[in-house]
Parts: sequence; C-alpha cells; structure tokens
Amino acid sequence: MDKRSEDDKLMDHEYDGIRELDNHMPRWWVLGFYFTIAFAAVYLVYYHFAGGPLSVKEYEMEMAAASPKKVEQVQVADTKLKPLTDAAALAAGEKLFVSQTCSACHNANLGGLVGPNLTDEYWMHGCDYTTVMANVSKGFTQKGMMPYGNGKPLAEAELQQLVSYVFSKKGSNPAGAKAIDPEREKKCTPK
Ligand code: HEC
Repeated sequence: MDKRSEDDKLMDHEYDGIRELDNHMPRWWVLGFYFTIAFAAVYLVYYHFAGGPLSVKEYEMEMAAASPKKVEQVQVADTKLKPLTDAAALAAGEKLFVSQTCSACHNANLGGLVGPNLTDEYWMHGCDYTTVMANVSKGFTQKGMMPYGNGKPLAEAELQQLVSYVFSKKGSNPAGAKAIDPEREKKCTPK
C-alpha cells in the first residue's frame, strides 16, 4: 500500500486551481503490465525467431489434420501366402468382419447385402487370396466400400485373419444370399 500522505503525493503543477496527486498504480495492475511485456518477449522469440508456427502455418496444419487420411495400403508382395486355417485366426477374423463393418454391407453370414455375396464362386475383382487381401485393403470407394471396410487400417496379420475368415465361409450357401450379377461376377477359382 502507498503510505505517503496526500501532501507528499501532491504534484507541483496546477491548472486553473486543479492539483494532481501522484497515485501509484495498484500492484496487481503493474504486475499485469510486466506480464504482458514478458509475454510479448516470449511470443516474439518463439514465433518469429525460434520457428514457431505462424497463423498461416497453423491453418495449413489444421487443414491437413482434418483432411481424409491417406490410408496405408498393405503391399502384398508374397503372392504365395495361403489362407490361415487355425481356429484362433478364423475367430479373430470373424471379429474383424464385424468391427471393420464388413458385415453391414456383406451381411453377417457373408451372403451379401449392398455388397456382393462373398461365399460363392463368382467374383468381380479376382478371387486369389492375396488379390482379395489387396482389394480389401484398398476398398472400392466408388461403390462405397472404404479401405479395410471402415477406413481403419489393419496390420497385414489382421488382414490375413479377416480374409482367411471370408475364405473359410466359401460354399457355406447362406440363406437369403444376394443373387449373382451375371454382367460383372464371373466364376473364379483361386490359384
Ligand atoms: C459400405 C459397404 C461395404 C463395406 C463396409 C464393405 N464392403 Fe466389400 N464391397 C462392397 C461393394 C458395394 C462391393 C462391390 C464393388 C463393385 O461393385 O465393384 C464390395 C466388394 C467386396 C469384395 C470384392 C468382391 C468381388 O466380387 O470381387 C470383397 C472381397 C469385399 N467387398 C470384402 C469386404 C470386406 C472383407 C469388408 C470389411 C473389411 C468389406 N468388404 C466392407 C460394399 C462394402
């Protein structure tokens, strides 16, 4: 607190009989003022000398973060891969068939809904194990099928479980299966 008396605070000048007291700024205000100076110094150094992102850069970063991610595609180089057959892998594949939303378009029994029946011998885009793996990883975006079904990438091991599960349902002849499109689906036997 300012302990000076009013006489001490009285300033020398006088205008038309009006005198002025030299009151100090309240401490909180002065601290606030010093804080803005310190803040400005940090801001200046960080954004203008240390390479911090300026508004335009921040805008570009946010736009990049918001734009659809380019999904990594599994490169299935080893075309000699064979479908997995062990029960644990197929059970994991069945879970993925639901969690990647495949079942929403191909039906939980794989008989097809919006998407084609996956249990028959008629395919549009090839029926080899690794071809199907590649197809699932890239999806058919013009037809509404996202990469990996819902766009959430899978590791190659998971992709194998998923496609092996699909292959394990071959010939299961599910009730209410979608009809074959003779224009596009051709009989195919995996190599
Ligand atoms: C939003 C709907 C949708 C989802 C989700 C979806 N699919 Fe599809 N899928 C389709 C459609 C539609 C086609 C047919 C593409 C065409 O007409 O060329 C298709 C085609 C396919 C094919 C190729 C069939 C062929 O005859 O060659 C496979 C394999 C396949 N889907 C598997 C899957 C798997 C596995 C998943 C989950 C990871 C999945 N799909 C998720 C709609 C979907």
